[in-house]
Amino acid sequence: MAKTLGPVRRKFSPWNDPTAKPLIEFRNVVKRFGDFTAVDDVSLGIYEREFFALLGPSGCGKTTLMRMLAGFEHPSEGEIRLAGASLAGKQPYERPVNMMFQSYALFPHMSVEKNIAFGLVMDKMPKGEIETRVQEMLKLVKLEKFAKRKPHQLSGGQRQRVALARSLAKRPKVLLLDEPLGALDKKLREETQFELMDLQQELGMTFLIVTHDQEEAMTVADRIAVMDHGKLIQVAGPSEIYEQPNSRYVADFIGDINIVEGRVTAIDGGLIRMEAAAPRVSIVMEDDAATSVGATAWMAVRPEKVRISHDAPIETGVNAVHGEVWDIGYIGDTSVYHVKLDDGGTFRAAVANVSRTVERPIGWDDRVWLTWSKTAGVVLTA
Ligand SMILES: Nc1ncnc2c1ncn2[C@@H]1O[C@H](COP(=O)(O)OP(=O)(O)O)[C@@H](O)[C@H]1O
Ligand SMILES: [Mg+2]
Repeated sequence: MAKTLGPVRRKFSPWNDPTAKPLIEFRNVVKRFGDFTAVDDVSLGIYEREFFALLGPSGCGKTTLMRMLAGFEHPSEGEIRLAGASLAGKQPYERPVNMMFQSYALFPHMSVEKNIAFGLVMDKMPKGEIETRVQEMLKLVKLEKFAKRKPHQLSGGQRQRVALARSLAKRPKVLLLDEPLGALDKKLREETQFELMDLQQELGMTFLIVTHDQEEAMTVADRIAVMDHGKLIQVAGPSEIYEQPNSRYVADFIGDINIVEGRVTAIDGGLIRMEAAAPRVSIVMEDDAATSVGATAWMAVRPEKVRISHDAPIETGVNAVHGEVWDIGYIGDTSVYHVKLDDGGTFRAAVANVSRTVERPIGWDDRVWLTWSKTAGVVLTA
């Protein structure tokens, strides 16, 4: 199953289809608590069967945005629509949306199957149908053997799956997941991410997930909205967010990146030239950023796109800085070199360790050159 996800998901991009209508639509939604604006003029379309992630630091308005969709909060301004109709005035239970909460709040005195059945019982679904549905859900989250257990007799990961089964039991059109994996350790978290992706494909549902973990968002989502102070800063697929961040905020929030501030000196033929003072470096990037000569701009390049060498490049005048290695970090199969530049600041280069037995050619205190090509990064104007 998981193997087929890549190709399936790659082809899925209704947001690029001008005739496709979003399932969920936020239109200029504002949410104020007193004079504090928690959600600030958000307009966003989410498509049927999409796995959409809201990503941002704590307090940026992710949960509030989700609670408005679920009907637990109401917009101060603007409108939320589902399948073309306004949700205004609709109670949470009247919406084809289910929310799985940050702390998944299972009923401690109820067995796994009773927890899963709870919403269906409330809805007065016939008993036989409830039994069938609960069995289906247990199978889906692979907990058939645990049906009679109480939550405290389960591991964290199992409890999480019960909560998931409970929120899926009513077959909502849209499932809202607020930091669903927050309580899990890293390994279980990663496994569960793939299970979520499988489930979402299998059920053909629309998932909206809130997370502050950028890796998680990058793994599960078709598209990501990066938020800051109640605003959407960028909405795009994971690779675009990573490779073409639209601002320093997004570039910095997602992964590691070197950012150099400079002044634009020329724009010609798809090339932007910049001069930076600290570090002192001339920069040429292939980019069509909307900037002008004389303006301040920022060049951003990921450490894995930076080449590190003892030897000076052939052309030392452009996209090249030099300094001294002052730290080397190992992250799995990658070494990250932190280089103190001779004329100000630091720069990082990441190099894949081809083999563990190979002697590292570059060590602490070595003098090195760092270079990058004109297509290795982006020019940012904000
Ligand atoms: N009911 C409320 N009353 C007052 N302030 C609130 C309320 N709910 C959320 N907030 C504030 O709105 C901001 C966004 O909160 P939230 O949406 O929970 O952020 P996130 O989920 O991104 O961490 C926070 O500053 C929070 O304190
Ligand atoms: Mg939250």
